[in-house]
This record gives sequence, structure tokens and C-alpha cells, in this order.
Amino acid sequence: MLVSAKEMLTKAKAGKYAVGQFNINNLEWTKAILQTAQELNSPVILGVSEGAGKYMCGYKTVVGMVNGMLEELNITVPVALHLDHGSFEGAKACINAGFSSIMFDGSHYPIEENIQKTTELVHTCNILGLSLEAEVGSIGGEEDGVVGAGECADPDECKAVADLGVTMLAAGIGNIHGKYPENWAGLSFETLDAIQAKTGDMPLVLHGGTGIPEDMIKKAISLGVAKINVNTECQLSFQEATRKYIEAGKDLEGKGFDPRKLLAPGAEAIKATVKEKMELFGSVGKA
Ligand code: 13P
Repeated sequence: MLVSAKEMLTKAKAGKYAVGQFNINNLEWTKAILQTAQELNSPVILGVSEGAGKYMCGYKTVVGMVNGMLEELNITVPVALHLDHGSFEGAKACINAGFSSIMFDGSHYPIEENIQKTTELVHTCNILGLSLEAEVGSIGGEEDGVVGAGECADPDECKAVADLGVTMLAAGIGNIHGKYPENWAGLSFETLDAIQAKTGDMPLVLHGGTGIPEDMIKKAISLGVAKINVNTECQLSFQEATRKYIEAGKDLEGKGFDPRKLLAPGAEAIKATVKEKMELFGSVGKA
């Protein structure tokens, strides 16, 4: 059964580790992530962007697929199905479809409007027992075609949004989705420290988990980050493994084209990436 992310993140914040959010794009990715979480006895959050939701034939299809896998694969570790960077309308659609966790990204609205829309969703999610992630200060990089520059959130605005009763807070601290540019200034630990001082026990979320060096990840966890999002690194490992398979001509062996064989090396590569991240984040054995 899908669970809200609240309990796993409260435990992670208290235990000074982070739960990974791994974005899913199809059946193979979802299966690979769930199997790895079960094997490592780790809680896990499956992230679904609005674009990925459309690709996978809508939010109801995603909920049906994930619920089916939990049962068929005998998954017993805590799993949250989470909308990633949702619009206000997307958030409502995922709530109706049966997601167990929602991110409303109101960071591009003026703070008053972000607060007003987040408040409405806090109310709905509380009634239904869903977890809610809010964002203050936009995360840089490209997400579903939208490009933003890495910002540092205002700690007072973070406190105002945290006080609305959200479950977790994504705050920009110079992080970027996708590959980091060579001249990237790194994470602003000063900002993170100030945000944690103002928001106390609130689990903080670090987006753009792909290109952040290990020492910065560990320091961010020590400063209150309890959820780390990873997408691009799974995409890259999937692509690389598939490319190698095709270049070796293996897709032409045997009885010819077989999508199950073609996608298998990519799925194995995703398992390896997820394992590496769960070990780095410290969530192994914490289910
Ligand atoms: P990356 O693509 O950089 O791993 O970031 C993922 C993310 O933050 C999704 O919200």
C-alpha cells in the first residue's frame, strides 16, 4: 500500500539520513527502483513529473501500475508516490487519482499567491492523509522544458511557508536540475543553515541530486536535508547501458527485436544508480 512520505521523512530528519526520490518514466524504471528499495530495505519516494505522468498515460495509469507492482513484487518497504513540481491543477488531479504525496511548486508565483495556494492544498492533504511538499526559491536548470536559474530562498519566506503545515520544504540553495555548469558556485550552506534555524524539525528537500558532489550531499544532510531528488542520473545510466547494448549489436541477436531484452540493461543500470544513491544518502536498512 502506498504511504504518505511524512513518517519516513520525520524519521530521516531525526536520524540524519535522507530518503531518495527517484523519478519514474515507465514500467521498467518503476520496477527497478522498487526492487532495489526492497532489496536494500530502504524507504523510497517515486517522483512523477507532469510530463512523465502524461507520457505514462495519465496519473490514474501511474497509480494503477505502482499499486499493482507493490502487490505483485511483494514490496513491503514504505513507498510514497509523489507528484514532482506540480502545478495547482496537477496537484488536484493527482490527489483525485490516488497519489500519496504531492509537491506543489508555487515558487514562480509572488510569495502571497504561493502561500494562498499552498494553504488550500495543506487543508486537502491533511484531510486525506497525504504529504505535501512546497517550494520557495526556484531550483535552477531545465524541468519539463522550463529553465530557471538557481536561486537562494529567503529564510523568512521559508518559515512562512513551513508554518502553513506542509510536510516538507524544498528551498533553493543554489541547486540546479540536471548537469551542473563548470563554473557552478556550489550549494549555499549558509542559506541552508539559516533555513533550518527558522524551520526547525521541518524535513528539507534537496532537488537536483544528480550532479552534487558527495561531500556536499553529506553536509546538506547534516544541515537538515531529509529528502533528495534524483532524476537525470537515472536517465543517463539508462541511456548509456542501452547505447552499449545496441552498439554491441546484441539487439539483433537471437529472434530479433525484443523490447523486453532491449530495455533490460538500462533497468539494471538504474538499479545500480539507485543503490549507490541510497547508500550515499544513508537510507539502507531504514525501512
Ligand atoms: P536531477 O535531474 O538533477 O537529478 O534533479 C531531479 C529533481 O530534482 C526532480 O525534482
